[in-house]
Amino acid sequence: MTTIPLPATNDLIRVALDAAIRAPSPHNTQPWRFEVTGDRIDVLLDRERVLAVADRDGREARLSCGAAIFNMRAALSGNGHAAAVTLLPDRRRADLLATLSISGTHRTTPEDQALARAIGFRRSNRRPFTDRPVPVGTRQALVRAAAAEGAELVLLERPGDLDALAALLRHAEHLQSEDPAFQAEVRRWTVEDGVRDDGVPLSAGGPRPEPDSLLTLRHYGVRESGPARPFERTPLVAVLSSHTDTSLGQVRAGQAMQRVLLTATTAGLSASFLSQPVELESSRTALRRLLGGRGYPQTVLRLGYGFAAPATRRRAADTVTYHHDPGEARS
Ligand SMILES: Cc1cc2nc3c(=O)[nH]c(=O)nc-3n(C[C@H](O)[C@H](O)[C@H](O)COP(=O)(O)O)c2cc1C
Repeated sequence: MTTIPLPATNDLIRVALDAAIRAPSPHNTQPWRFEVTGDRIDVLLDRERVLAVADRDGREARLSCGAAIFNMRAALSGNGHAAAVTLLPDRRRADLLATLSISGTHRTTPEDQALARAIGFRRSNRRPFTDRPVPVGTRQALVRAAAAEGAELVLLERPGDLDALAALLRHAEHLQSEDPAFQAEVRRWTVEDGVRDDGVPLSAGGPRPEPDSLLTLRHYGVRESGPARPFERTPLVAVLSSHTDTSLGQVRAGQAMQRVLLTATTAGLSASFLSQPVELESSRTALRRLLGGRGYPQTVLRLGYGFAAPATRRRAADTVTYHHDPGEARS
């Protein structure tokens, strides 16, 4: 392997990689690496960045890489370029999650452009949302976004379902808050603002919800000292499920998750994650049962109209990318 400077002609590779690294990831671990050979980008899971306690089998890391893959596709199609993507292309290399090749031109639609623009604006917003309801048309667009990527988004619109989810969330949050290893991991990834290019900065943690709030949010940092704030009275909560729980199903679900999040961003919606119930096997099973046993819950999202939330930092694309000499054979 030899490192060579990024060829000037490869502006598109740069566009794709700059989009990829904006993907969300648990505790902002950014569990990805990229290898570039000519016009091909290989997306690899970075095992060293998989959360050992919260994400032992790397499921959430694969979702994050799926989101990075979707960002690359969206950035390219928004700029008039087609991408051919093969997921899990080599059975002998489980961490090679995808190969993306830039493959000619693409007739860009307004939706493509909007999704591409949203990549830079999307962020996790852990602050209270307003009580303005999300219109039916927007809800349907979110459901369609997941379906377009081969996953299912179930909106918990019946009060009983929302209450049941809230109970699972509280239970899982309680178990995680009592687990010293889990808490140590959260602390390791909670960072002072502006100090590191990964982790969740204190400014991105939301305020403490008032005691009678329906949803429990993950605690980052020292917000316990701040005043409690009322959160939206009837939150819109959605569960994203895959049809299989294999690595392939999880990478697909990550693409669907990102398409949902970017679609939400284009509609002016904010979103945050409520992963606690899918991170513990027992509550994940209970959640699956709540959804009628269909599909495998991969993540839970809270959606609504919020106010600006800060962006979190990323490691620059160059620092997570290896450029192969195009003539060199792949190992
Ligand atoms: C699979 C997955 C699970 C996540 N779970 C949570 C969660 O339970 N609570 C939370 O506050 N944020 C959660 N996040 C959000 C990340 O912390 C966030 O994406 C990361 O800090 C980067 O910030 P950004 O989304 O604003 O770009 C999750 C993200 C992903 C991809």
